[in-house]
Amino acid sequence: MKILVTGGAGFIGSHTCVSLLENGYDVLVYDNLSNSSEESLRRVEKITGKKVEFVKGDILDKEKLNEVLSKDKFDACIHFAGLKAVGESVEKPWEYYQNNIAGTLNLVDAMRNNGCKSIIFSSSATVYGDPAEIPITENCPKGTCTNPYGWTKSMLEQVLSDIQKADNEWNVILLRYFNPIGAHKSGTMGENPNGIPNNLMPYITQVAVGKLKELGVFGDDYDTPDGTGVRDYIHVVDLAEGHVAALKKIKENCGLAIYNLGTGVGYSVLDIVKNFEEANDIKIPYSIKPRRAGDIAACYCDPSKAKAELGWEAKNGIKEMCEDSWRWQKNNPNGYEN
Ligand code: UD1
Repeated sequence: MKILVTGGAGFIGSHTCVSLLENGYDVLVYDNLSNSSEESLRRVEKITGKKVEFVKGDILDKEKLNEVLSKDKFDACIHFAGLKAVGESVEKPWEYYQNNIAGTLNLVDAMRNNGCKSIIFSSSATVYGDPAEIPITENCPKGTCTNPYGWTKSMLEQVLSDIQKADNEWNVILLRYFNPIGAHKSGTMGENPNGIPNNLMPYITQVAVGKLKELGVFGDDYDTPDGTGVRDYIHVVDLAEGHVAALKKIKENCGLAIYNLGTGVGYSVLDIVKNFEEANDIKIPYSIKPRRAGDIAACYCDPSKAKAELGWEAKNGIKEMCEDSWRWQKNNPNGYEN
Protein backbone atom coordinates (compact mmCIF):
# COMPACT_ATOMS: atom_id res chain seq x y z
CA MET A 1 0.00 0.00 0.00
CA LYS A 2 1.31 3.42 -0.91
CA ILE A 3 0.28 6.58 0.88
CA LEU A 4 0.66 10.18 -0.28
CA VAL A 5 1.55 12.30 2.75
CA THR A 6 1.19 16.03 2.15
CA GLY A 7 3.07 18.06 4.75
CA GLY A 8 4.96 14.91 5.67
CA ALA A 9 8.13 16.77 6.68
CA GLY A 10 6.36 18.64 9.49
CA PHE A 11 6.02 17.73 13.16
CA ILE A 12 3.00 15.42 13.01
CA GLY A 13 3.64 14.38 9.39
CA SER A 14 7.19 13.16 9.98
CA HIS A 15 6.18 11.12 13.04
CA THR A 16 3.33 9.65 11.02
CA CYS A 17 5.80 8.65 8.28
CA VAL A 18 7.72 6.64 10.89
CA SER A 19 4.54 4.83 11.96
CA LEU A 20 3.50 4.18 8.36
CA LEU A 21 6.87 2.75 7.35
CA GLU A 22 7.01 0.63 10.51
CA ASN A 23 3.61 -0.76 9.58
CA GLY A 24 4.68 -1.76 6.08
CA TYR A 25 3.28 1.15 4.09
CA ASP A 26 5.27 2.94 1.40
CA VAL A 27 5.13 6.72 1.55
CA LEU A 28 5.64 9.64 -0.77
CA VAL A 29 5.97 12.95 1.02
CA TYR A 30 4.78 16.07 -0.79
CA ASP A 31 5.87 19.18 1.09
CA ASN A 32 6.91 22.71 0.13
CA LEU A 33 9.26 22.93 3.17
CA SER A 34 7.82 26.37 4.02
CA ASN A 35 7.72 25.47 7.71
CA SER A 36 9.65 22.22 7.80
CA SER A 37 13.00 20.71 6.96
CA GLU A 38 13.99 17.87 4.67
CA GLU A 39 16.33 16.78 7.45
CA SER A 40 13.28 15.44 9.31
CA LEU A 41 12.85 12.90 6.50
CA ARG A 42 16.47 11.80 6.76
CA ARG A 43 15.81 11.11 10.42
CA VAL A 44 12.69 9.14 9.50
CA GLU A 45 14.86 7.04 7.18
CA LYS A 46 17.47 6.52 9.87
CA ILE A 47 14.91 5.36 12.43
CA THR A 48 13.04 3.03 10.10
CA GLY A 49 15.87 1.91 7.81
CA LYS A 50 13.51 2.58 4.90
CA LYS A 51 13.43 5.04 2.05
CA VAL A 52 11.10 8.03 2.01
CA GLU A 53 10.24 9.28 -1.44
CA PHE A 54 10.10 13.07 -1.42
CA VAL A 55 8.70 15.61 -3.86
CA LYS A 56 9.18 19.27 -3.03
CA GLY A 57 5.90 20.83 -4.03
CA ASP A 58 3.14 23.17 -3.02
CA ILE A 59 -0.52 22.21 -2.71
CA LEU A 60 -1.26 25.37 -4.68
CA ASP A 61 0.60 23.81 -7.63
CA LYS A 62 -2.20 21.90 -9.34
CA GLU A 63 0.00 20.59 -12.14
CA LYS A 64 2.58 19.14 -9.84
CA LEU A 65 -0.09 17.46 -7.72
CA ASN A 66 -1.58 15.90 -10.85
CA GLU A 67 1.85 14.77 -11.99
CA VAL A 68 2.61 13.08 -8.65
CA LEU A 69 -0.78 11.40 -8.44
CA SER A 70 -0.69 10.20 -12.05
CA LYS A 71 2.75 8.61 -11.81
CA ASP A 72 1.90 6.20 -8.98
CA LYS A 73 -1.08 4.37 -7.60
CA PHE A 74 -1.86 5.71 -4.13
CA ASP A 75 -4.25 3.87 -1.83
CA ALA A 76 -4.92 6.99 0.24
CA CYS A 77 -3.70 10.45 1.05
CA ILE A 78 -3.00 11.76 4.53
CA HIS A 79 -3.30 15.51 4.23
CA PHE A 80 -1.27 17.50 6.75
CA ALA A 81 -0.10 20.34 4.52
CA GLY A 82 -1.38 23.73 5.60
CA LEU A 83 -0.58 26.94 7.38
CA LYS A 84 -1.16 26.59 11.11
CA ALA A 85 -0.12 29.65 13.11
CA VAL A 86 -3.17 31.02 14.88
CA GLY A 87 -1.89 34.59 15.37
CA GLU A 88 -0.50 34.86 11.83
CA SER A 89 -3.87 33.73 10.45
CA VAL A 90 -5.51 36.77 12.05
CA GLU A 91 -2.96 39.05 10.31
CA LYS A 92 -3.08 37.23 6.95
CA PRO A 93 -6.54 35.74 6.52
CA TRP A 94 -6.38 35.75 2.70
CA GLU A 95 -3.19 33.71 2.70
CA TYR A 96 -4.71 31.20 5.11
CA TYR A 97 -7.95 30.74 3.16
CA GLN A 98 -6.08 30.63 -0.14
CA ASN A 99 -3.44 28.16 0.95
CA ASN A 100 -5.48 25.84 3.14
CA ILE A 101 -8.78 25.87 1.26
CA ALA A 102 -7.72 26.34 -2.37
CA GLY A 103 -4.77 24.00 -1.75
CA THR A 104 -7.05 21.25 -0.43
CA LEU A 105 -9.48 21.71 -3.33
CA ASN A 106 -6.53 21.26 -5.72
CA LEU A 107 -5.47 18.13 -3.91
CA VAL A 108 -8.95 16.57 -3.94
CA ASP A 109 -9.33 17.35 -7.64
CA ALA A 110 -5.98 15.78 -8.49
CA MET A 111 -6.91 12.76 -6.37
CA ARG A 112 -10.22 12.11 -8.10
CA ASN A 113 -8.69 12.72 -11.53
CA ASN A 114 -6.32 9.90 -10.77
CA GLY A 115 -8.62 7.45 -9.04
CA CYS A 116 -7.54 7.99 -5.45
CA LYS A 117 -10.63 8.68 -3.35
CA SER A 118 -9.53 8.12 0.23
CA ILE A 119 -8.33 10.95 2.42
CA ILE A 120 -7.46 11.41 6.07
CA PHE A 121 -7.64 15.06 7.00
CA SER A 122 -5.78 16.79 9.86
CA SER A 123 -8.50 18.61 11.68
CA SER A 124 -8.39 20.13 15.12
CA ALA A 125 -10.26 20.45 18.39
CA THR A 126 -10.44 24.11 17.43
CA VAL A 127 -13.56 23.29 15.34
CA TYR A 128 -15.54 22.92 18.60
CA GLY A 129 -14.89 26.60 19.45
CA ASP A 130 -15.74 27.13 23.11
CA PRO A 131 -17.09 23.59 23.52
CA ALA A 132 -20.73 23.11 24.42
CA GLU A 133 -19.84 20.02 26.47
CA ILE A 134 -16.79 18.66 28.29
CA PRO A 135 -15.44 16.05 27.79
CA ILE A 136 -16.03 16.70 24.09
CA THR A 137 -17.54 13.87 22.05
CA GLU A 138 -17.72 13.92 18.26
CA ASN A 139 -21.43 14.73 18.62
CA CYS A 140 -20.65 18.02 20.30
CA PRO A 141 -21.82 20.74 17.90
CA LYS A 142 -19.10 22.61 16.06
CA GLY A 143 -18.65 26.11 17.40
CA THR A 144 -17.52 29.58 16.47
CA CYS A 145 -13.80 29.60 15.72
CA THR A 146 -11.78 32.50 17.06
CA ASN A 147 -9.40 32.83 14.10
CA PRO A 148 -9.09 32.16 10.34
CA TYR A 149 -6.82 29.14 10.89
CA GLY A 150 -9.60 27.47 12.88
CA TRP A 151 -12.16 28.40 10.24
CA THR A 152 -10.09 26.77 7.50
CA LYS A 153 -10.20 23.50 9.47
CA SER A 154 -13.91 23.80 10.09
CA MET A 155 -14.71 24.74 6.47
CA LEU A 156 -12.55 21.98 5.05
CA GLU A 157 -14.37 19.44 7.20
CA GLN A 158 -17.58 20.63 5.52
CA VAL A 159 -16.06 20.56 2.03
CA LEU A 160 -14.73 17.02 2.42
CA SER A 161 -17.97 15.78 4.02
CA ASP A 162 -20.01 17.18 1.12
CA ILE A 163 -17.70 15.60 -1.44
CA GLN A 164 -18.09 12.23 0.26
CA LYS A 165 -21.88 12.63 0.44
CA ALA A 166 -22.09 13.35 -3.29
CA ASP A 167 -19.87 10.43 -4.30
CA ASN A 168 -19.83 7.44 -2.01
CA GLU A 169 -16.70 6.04 -3.61
CA TRP A 170 -14.91 8.51 -1.36
CA ASN A 171 -13.67 7.59 2.10
CA VAL A 172 -13.11 10.66 4.26
CA ILE A 173 -11.79 10.49 7.80
CA LEU A 174 -11.62 13.73 9.76
CA LEU A 175 -9.22 13.47 12.69
CA ARG A 176 -9.68 16.17 15.29
CA TYR A 177 -6.38 16.47 17.10
CA PHE A 178 -6.18 17.82 20.61
CA ASN A 179 -2.79 19.23 21.72
CA PRO A 180 0.12 17.24 20.25
CA ILE A 181 3.40 17.39 22.20
CA GLY A 182 6.26 14.95 22.87
CA ALA A 183 8.73 13.64 20.33
CA HIS A 184 10.15 10.39 18.99
CA LYS A 185 11.86 8.35 21.75
CA SER A 186 15.16 8.40 19.84
CA GLY A 187 15.47 12.12 20.54
CA THR A 188 16.21 12.69 16.84
CA MET A 189 12.80 13.99 15.75
CA GLY A 190 10.49 16.56 17.29
CA GLU A 191 8.77 19.89 16.94
CA ASN A 192 10.83 22.58 15.24
CA PRO A 193 8.89 25.85 15.32
CA ASN A 194 10.03 28.91 13.38
CA GLY A 195 10.97 31.82 15.65
CA ILE A 196 9.47 32.21 19.11
CA PRO A 197 7.06 29.35 19.76
CA ASN A 198 3.36 30.08 20.18
CA ASN A 199 2.49 26.73 21.74
CA LEU A 200 3.10 25.79 25.33
CA MET A 201 5.48 22.80 25.20
CA PRO A 202 8.00 24.18 22.70
CA TYR A 203 8.04 27.38 24.73
CA ILE A 204 8.80 25.41 27.91
CA THR A 205 11.57 23.37 26.27
CA GLN A 206 13.18 26.56 24.92
CA VAL A 207 13.14 28.05 28.42
CA ALA A 208 14.69 24.80 29.69
CA VAL A 209 17.48 24.92 27.11
CA GLY A 210 18.16 28.59 27.90
CA LYS A 211 16.96 30.15 24.65
CA LEU A 212 14.08 31.94 26.38
CA LYS A 213 14.14 33.51 29.84
CA GLU A 214 10.81 32.57 31.36
CA LEU A 215 7.41 31.21 30.48
CA GLY A 216 4.44 33.58 30.48
CA VAL A 217 1.36 31.79 31.80
CA PHE A 218 -1.60 33.29 29.96
CA GLY A 219 -4.18 33.88 32.70
CA ASP A 220 -4.74 32.32 36.13
CA ASP A 221 -8.36 33.34 36.58
CA TYR A 222 -10.12 30.76 34.41
CA ASP A 223 -12.82 28.58 35.86
CA THR A 224 -10.45 25.60 36.23
CA PRO A 225 -8.98 23.92 39.35
CA ASP A 226 -5.86 26.15 39.48
CA GLY A 227 -7.17 28.99 37.28
CA THR A 228 -4.91 28.23 34.29
CA GLY A 229 -6.09 26.81 30.95
CA VAL A 230 -6.75 23.08 30.73
CA ARG A 231 -5.95 21.07 27.58
CA ASP A 232 -5.81 17.48 26.38
CA TYR A 233 -2.12 16.92 25.54
CA ILE A 234 -1.39 13.90 23.37
CA HIS A 235 1.96 12.33 22.53
CA VAL A 236 2.78 12.88 18.86
CA VAL A 237 3.73 9.20 18.42
CA ASP A 238 0.29 8.15 19.71
CA LEU A 239 -1.25 10.65 17.32
CA ALA A 240 0.81 9.18 14.45
CA GLU A 241 -0.44 5.69 15.34
CA GLY A 242 -3.99 7.06 15.15
CA HIS A 243 -3.43 7.66 11.43
CA VAL A 244 -2.35 4.07 10.88
CA ALA A 245 -5.53 2.93 12.68
CA ALA A 246 -7.58 5.26 10.47
CA LEU A 247 -6.03 3.76 7.32
CA LYS A 248 -7.24 0.33 8.43
CA LYS A 249 -10.73 1.80 8.75
CA ILE A 250 -10.47 3.20 5.22
CA LYS A 251 -9.77 -0.29 3.89
CA GLU A 252 -13.24 -1.25 5.16
CA ASN A 253 -14.77 1.50 2.99
CA CYS A 254 -15.93 3.55 5.94
CA GLY A 255 -17.45 6.44 3.98
CA LEU A 256 -17.35 9.53 6.20
CA ALA A 257 -16.03 9.18 9.76
CA ILE A 258 -14.94 11.65 12.42
CA TYR A 259 -12.72 10.93 15.41
CA ASN A 260 -11.30 12.89 18.31
CA LEU A 261 -7.66 12.01 18.93
CA GLY A 262 -6.75 12.89 22.48
CA THR A 263 -6.14 11.13 25.78
CA GLY A 264 -9.31 12.27 27.54
CA VAL A 265 -7.24 13.74 30.38
CA GLY A 266 -7.01 17.49 30.94
CA TYR A 267 -3.88 19.17 32.34
CA SER A 268 -3.56 22.82 33.28
CA VAL A 269 -0.62 25.01 32.25
CA LEU A 270 0.77 24.76 35.78
CA ASP A 271 0.30 20.94 35.75
CA ILE A 272 2.44 20.83 32.63
CA VAL A 273 5.13 23.04 34.17
CA LYS A 274 5.20 20.88 37.31
CA ASN A 275 5.28 17.60 35.39
CA PHE A 276 8.04 18.89 33.12
CA GLU A 277 10.10 19.99 36.12
CA GLU A 278 9.66 16.65 37.89
CA ALA A 279 10.24 14.45 34.85
CA ASN A 280 13.44 16.25 33.85
CA ASP A 281 14.71 17.76 37.09
CA ILE A 282 14.80 21.28 35.64
CA LYS A 283 13.26 24.44 37.01
CA ILE A 284 11.01 26.40 34.63
CA PRO A 285 10.73 30.03 35.74
CA TYR A 286 7.35 31.52 34.92
CA SER A 287 5.18 34.53 35.60
CA ILE A 288 1.46 35.07 35.27
CA LYS A 289 0.44 37.22 32.29
CA PRO A 290 -2.95 38.42 31.05
CA ARG A 291 -5.19 35.98 29.20
CA ARG A 292 -4.34 35.43 25.51
CA ALA A 293 -7.08 36.54 23.12
CA GLY A 294 -9.12 33.65 21.74
CA ASP A 295 -8.14 31.14 24.46
CA ILE A 296 -10.78 29.07 26.23
CA ALA A 297 -10.75 27.75 29.80
CA ALA A 298 -10.84 24.02 29.19
CA CYS A 299 -10.74 21.60 26.27
CA TYR A 300 -10.43 17.84 26.55
CA CYS A 301 -12.08 15.00 24.75
CA ASP A 302 -13.92 11.78 25.22
CA PRO A 303 -11.72 9.49 23.10
CA SER A 304 -13.98 6.43 23.38
CA LYS A 305 -15.24 6.50 19.78
CA ALA A 306 -11.72 6.09 18.39
CA LYS A 307 -11.11 3.25 20.81
CA ALA A 308 -14.35 1.46 19.89
CA GLU A 309 -14.14 1.93 16.12
CA LEU A 310 -10.42 2.19 15.38
CA GLY A 311 -9.09 0.07 18.23
CA TRP A 312 -6.79 2.98 18.99
CA GLU A 313 -5.98 4.72 22.24
CA ALA A 314 -3.13 6.89 23.46
CA LYS A 315 -0.51 4.92 25.37
CA ASN A 316 1.89 7.59 26.61
CA GLY A 317 1.23 9.59 29.75
CA ILE A 318 2.30 13.07 30.71
CA LYS A 319 5.67 11.92 32.10
CA GLU A 320 6.69 10.40 28.75
CA MET A 321 5.44 13.47 26.89
CA CYS A 322 7.60 15.74 29.08
CA GLU A 323 10.67 13.47 28.93
CA ASP A 324 10.49 12.99 25.18
CA SER A 325 9.92 16.69 24.42
CA TRP A 326 12.98 17.51 26.50
CA ARG A 327 15.22 14.78 25.04
CA TRP A 328 14.56 16.17 21.55
CA GLN A 329 15.20 19.80 22.53
CA LYS A 330 18.29 19.00 24.60
CA ASN A 331 19.88 16.95 21.81
CA ASN A 332 18.86 19.46 19.11
CA PRO A 333 18.90 22.95 20.64
CA ASN A 334 18.49 24.45 17.17
CA GLY A 335 16.03 21.89 15.91
CA TYR A 336 16.97 20.44 12.51
CA GLU A 337 19.31 23.36 11.77
CA ASN A 338 22.24 21.90 13.70
C1 UD1 B 1 -3.61 26.16 19.71
C2 UD1 B 1 -4.70 26.59 18.77
C3 UD1 B 1 -5.27 25.39 18.08
C4 UD1 B 1 -4.20 24.62 17.39
C5 UD1 B 1 -3.13 24.21 18.40
C6 UD1 B 1 -1.97 23.57 17.69
C7 UD1 B 1 -5.77 28.61 19.71
C8 UD1 B 1 -7.04 29.21 20.23
N1 UD1 B 1 -5.77 27.31 19.44
O1 UD1 B 1 -4.21 25.41 20.76
O2 UD1 B 1 -6.22 25.82 17.14
O3 UD1 B 1 -4.75 23.47 16.77
O4 UD1 B 1 -2.65 25.38 19.06
O5 UD1 B 1 -1.19 22.89 18.62
O6 UD1 B 1 -4.78 29.27 19.56
N2 UD1 B 1 0.00 28.95 27.10
C9 UD1 B 1 0.67 29.74 28.03
N3 UD1 B 1 1.85 30.31 27.66
C10 UD1 B 1 2.41 30.14 26.42
C11 UD1 B 1 1.72 29.33 25.48
C12 UD1 B 1 0.53 28.76 25.85
O7 UD1 B 1 0.20 29.92 29.15
O8 UD1 B 1 3.49 30.72 26.16
C13 UD1 B 1 -1.25 28.29 27.49
C14 UD1 B 1 -2.46 28.69 26.67
O9 UD1 B 1 -3.08 29.82 27.20
C15 UD1 B 1 -3.33 27.43 26.76
C16 UD1 B 1 -2.29 26.30 26.84
O10 UD1 B 1 -1.08 26.91 27.30
O11 UD1 B 1 -4.08 27.42 27.94
C17 UD1 B 1 -2.04 25.61 25.52
O12 UD1 B 1 -1.73 26.58 24.52
P1 UD1 B 1 -1.18 26.18 23.07
O13 UD1 B 1 -0.07 25.20 23.19
O14 UD1 B 1 -0.91 27.44 22.34
O15 UD1 B 1 -2.40 25.39 22.42
P2 UD1 B 1 -3.95 25.83 22.25
O16 UD1 B 1 -4.12 27.26 22.40
O17 UD1 B 1 -4.77 24.92 23.08
